[in-house]
Amino acid sequence: MYKDYPSFLQELREKSNIIDVAQKYVDLEKKGGRYWARCPIHNEKTPSFTLDEVRGTFHCFGCGAHGDVFSFIEQVEHVDFKEAVQILANRAGMEVPSFKADYNKEQREAERQKKERMYALMRDCGLYYHNNLMAQKTGEVIDYITQRKLTRSTLKTFGMGYSSGFNELIEFLKGKGYTDSEMLECGVAKEKNGKLYDFEAGRLIVPIFNNMNNVVAFGGRVLGAADFMKYKNTEETLIFKKRNELFGVHTLKKAKLTENFNCVIVVEGYMDVIMLHQAGVKNVVASMGTALTPEQARMLKYYNNNIYLCYDGDNAGQKATYKGIDILRDAGLNVKVITLIEGLDPDDIIKQYGVNKFRELVDQAISPSEYKIRAVAKQFDLQTPDGQGKFAVKALEVLSELSTLVEREAYIPLISQLSRLSPQSLSKQLNKMEDNAGGYKETQEIESNKEDRFTVKPSMNKYFKASRFLIYCIFKYDALEYINEDISPYLKEKEHIAIYDYAREIKASNNTLNIDILKELEGNSEAKIIADGSFEEIPDDCREQMLRDCFLTLKKDFLDIEMQELTLRYSEEENIDSQNLLRNQIAEIHAKILALKRRKNGK
Ligand code: UTP
Ligand code: MN
Repeated sequence: MYKDYPSFLQELREKSNIIDVAQKYVDLEKKGGRYWARCPIHNEKTPSFTLDEVRGTFHCFGCGAHGDVFSFIEQVEHVDFKEAVQILANRAGMEVPSFKADYNKEQREAERQKKERMYALMRDCGLYYHNNLMAQKTGEVIDYITQRKLTRSTLKTFGMGYSSGFNELIEFLKGKGYTDSEMLECGVAKEKNGKLYDFEAGRLIVPIFNNMNNVVAFGGRVLGAADFMKYKNTEETLIFKKRNELFGVHTLKKAKLTENFNCVIVVEGYMDVIMLHQAGVKNVVASMGTALTPEQARMLKYYNNNIYLCYDGDNAGQKATYKGIDILRDAGLNVKVITLIEGLDPDDIIKQYGVNKFRELVDQAISPSEYKIRAVAKQFDLQTPDGQGKFAVKALEVLSELSTLVEREAYIPLISQLSRLSPQSLSKQLNKMEDNAGGYKETQEIESNKEDRFTVKPSMNKYFKASRFLIYCIFKYDALEYINEDISPYLKEKEHIAIYDYAREIKASNNTLNIDILKELEGNSEAKIIADGSFEEIPDDCREQMLRDCFLTLKKDFLDIEMQELTLRYSEEENIDSQNLLRNQIAEIHAKILALKRRKNGK
């Protein structure tokens, strides 16, 4: 119930001391009233990650990451707010209240327990397969992994396994106390003539981990060539929905702790992820043979904003690329496309040309527009004037989805080169098409610096006013996404923090915000004041700007305090190295404050 939530979150926050929570991820050192560590979010050699126990916040002077204990978990575990709450609740031994009022508590608890039991079974099953593989000395499976050049260390990293026959797994799981129906429910066993058998019998096993590091399914590969059922995947179960999972998130999450990536590469197959990882390319996941889903795109967002699609060059691959481009863009991600060598997948490329060739192809990744233009080019015979002309028209149509004229013009040279038509005539044609379409929309100028339109008591300071107004707008206009940054470290008012958490939780459950929801937050006097307050309607076109202004005010206040603290520490610090570090940090904050002032004054 919504009503239980704020008090739940508050209690959870109190039980989740940021120092204790962070200790699991970093080695902390206490210096001058603050805790310091090497940042677990970006890779660094000298500590610029600091924790503030009193406020319960963290801040990294190196990468700029900051937030409260919830966003700390979001960023180190690459999960959303809701999952972060779940992780912290598990840690604190608390039960997360449900949002579905009609859903009874026992049923929910039963489902949770059932899932836990399934995760346990899947883990035992994966361990069984893995130990079985590691125990093999000779035979078919050893020949197969040798031929595929899989190292022992890779087999361990991915927890790969082997099922030697139809019955061994079943006996093993029985011995562990699992029932037939549990095995069937998890999809690891099937029934024939009243007898259970291992669904993956005789196959090389690739476990699929979810974002919380649970084994949720297996992919099993036949040992040898096959056109049909090359891989057999666990069918969908209570804990495995294919559209929600990406193969390789567990290794990606681990690699992110020690390496900084500028993108995440999405490939088609298990083996591509595994072989790339073995060759040192660790920023890679697989969508498991199908086009990306919005759920997968959402998960990717927690890892990186730049996604490179790397699908096979065949028809299916091209279709998946087109679809993937749209889905990733809808999720607000930057997309590029890696063009592979015809007929080869990443695994083949590594084997035939070496990993550097693959890295080269990554560096040559192209924009979605260029990809589409090149794809269109393949449909025409560019040796004939007829083909050239038809291609040019189609290619120019691709440009219509670009929002500015500058971007559209940027592709004229490429189309000219492919069609051998002059850039001038192409530009002319482009203009003609735009006129016919009534002109493309240019991005609208944002009206800036409108006067604050709501009344406040004169005694309130600017900071408080901004904090309150921001919260009002977030609910009134369902505007949490306008500010794509965690606001919580900048909020000082306990009640505002509680309201903000409440907003994040509602959004995480895919509900929209409105002022009435705010009224359901009982016992929070600020919620009441904001919900009942007489704020004026903000015109559509200046909402975003106003929100941003308020946010900048909060941020400035935060930086001012940060600055005061650092200056104090600096004056007390005796160690020269630490002094130097502090001086750099002070300079950085100073630069940030100046930049903020410039932004507030209209750039
Ligand atoms: P591919 O056919 O490209 O296989 O399928 P691959 O990864 O190159 O396989 P290897 O190298 O021959 O071992 C790409 C992905 O599609 C899914 C799997 O996730 C596979 O990794 N797939 C493919 C299946 O689920 N079942 C199949 O029968 C084939
Ligand atoms: Mn392959």
